[in-house]
Amino acid sequence: MEHNFRTLNYLGSKLRLLDFIEENVLRVAAEGQGVCDLFAGSGCVSYKLSRHFEVVSCDIQSYSKTICNALLKKYVVSKNDIERFISELKNEKKLLNSFIPVIDIEEEAIETKNLEILTEILENGSVEVYSLENKKTTLCHQLQEVLSNLKGNELLNEKSLISRYYGGVYFSYRQAVWIDVILESIHRSVAKENRDLFLAALLSTASDMADTVGKHFAQPIKARDSKGNIKITVYNKALKDKTIDVVSLYRDWLLRYISVPRTSHGFCTMQGDYLECLRNLPASIKTVYADPPYTRDHYSRFYHVLETITLRDSPELSTTNIRGDKHISNGIYRKERHQSPFCIKSKAPDAFKAMFEIISKRGINLLLSYSPYDETQKTHPRVVTMRQLITWARNCFDNVEIISAGSFKHNKLNSTDHFLDASDEAEVLIVCSNE
Ligand SMILES: C[S@@+](CC[C@H](N)C(=O)[O-])C[C@H]1O[C@@H](n2cnc3c(N)ncnc32)[C@H](O)[C@@H]1O
Repeated sequence: MEHNFRTLNYLGSKLRLLDFIEENVLRVAAEGQGVCDLFAGSGCVSYKLSRHFEVVSCDIQSYSKTICNALLKKYVVSKNDIERFISELKNEKKLLNSFIPVIDIEEEAIETKNLEILTEILENGSVEVYSLENKKTTLCHQLQEVLSNLKGNELLNEKSLISRYYGGVYFSYRQAVWIDVILESIHRSVAKENRDLFLAALLSTASDMADTVGKHFAQPIKARDSKGNIKITVYNKALKDKTIDVVSLYRDWLLRYISVPRTSHGFCTMQGDYLECLRNLPASIKTVYADPPYTRDHYSRFYHVLETITLRDSPELSTTNIRGDKHISNGIYRKERHQSPFCIKSKAPDAFKAMFEIISKRGINLLLSYSPYDETQKTHPRVVTMRQLITWARNCFDNVEIISAGSFKHNKLNSTDHFLDASDEAEVLIVCSNE
């Protein structure tokens, strides 16, 4: 189990299949050769493969590049450096004081189990959304006070980004303030070459704290049932998630990140579209491991908060139409979010065909992950079927083989037709190569 490192609570993460993936990459690529992790996500595959191979990691999301850098690069950061960084954080009081009106009301609501206030905070607690929409809520007074405090303290800028946008909604106000304080400290005092290490630890911290079902940011907790009654989940989750101590969790993550062994092979990380990455692959890369999305859930929607923490760019927010009126979406999403062709039924076939074609033309082996649809999990059905994938792969490659992580150990395509319609098979790898 060496080299298995969970960075994020990530949908479709291959954490539990790392040994299986490594074993199969080793069947087609010699130690020391170059391997590309084309949809790197939480970085666990890149990290695992870095033990044996030179790795190129690619993903469209910036947080993925940050995390891969943190796992692959050798940093000269000691435990003492970390303790010093942590102790200096404690001096930062201005932002915390600006948020006191809402911090107090939220903490009291958790203490007294006040479901109404907790719900109000989840539904209407974003300071940024309040400042844009001016909606009348029972929190108006406090939200207005926070806004004037921020203005008075010259904090209506990137220094209050996370607390202003997501405080109360995805994190408690206090936690969101600490994320901002840590971010500011990283940008102000950490040397550029160490920044991704400190940022990655913050992303892992934010992922662990998220006050949502599933620890992603697709939507805040739905506070009410279909009849409009407030659910007890609101309180139970707040008690569990919103009381986590950010600074001590962050410190733990930093220590974890510096303690994992680093690769002795070369590596490179790219943020960008998969086709662009494939076109720019170094000649040393002879194998691609690909784990694209297979459902219509866009990762850019599920992890937009991590992207904003990484970019720190005060994004414009997306809107939805409710009965003719434009409103900021409940999820407080970034307006410019990547729409992946792999998640769109009409675009996915061409996206896969282009991937097969370019990889085959460059004489590179491909290992493509596919996880059949499991109806017992509440995920959406797959955008493409395994049968389609095999057909497209065979149009480009001489050899197409299916290897299952489950009961079937190893099957040649011809003898495994039953695979293709099965809905309850374990995760598979479609291994494509040319003669
Ligand atoms: C199933 S996840 C990969 C999970 C990863 N193997 C892990 O274990 O964490 C799919 C990834 O594809 C990325 N992605 C989606 N469309 C992309 C595109 N057009 N180019 C590059 N990456 C893309 C998403 O951001 C997401 O991180």
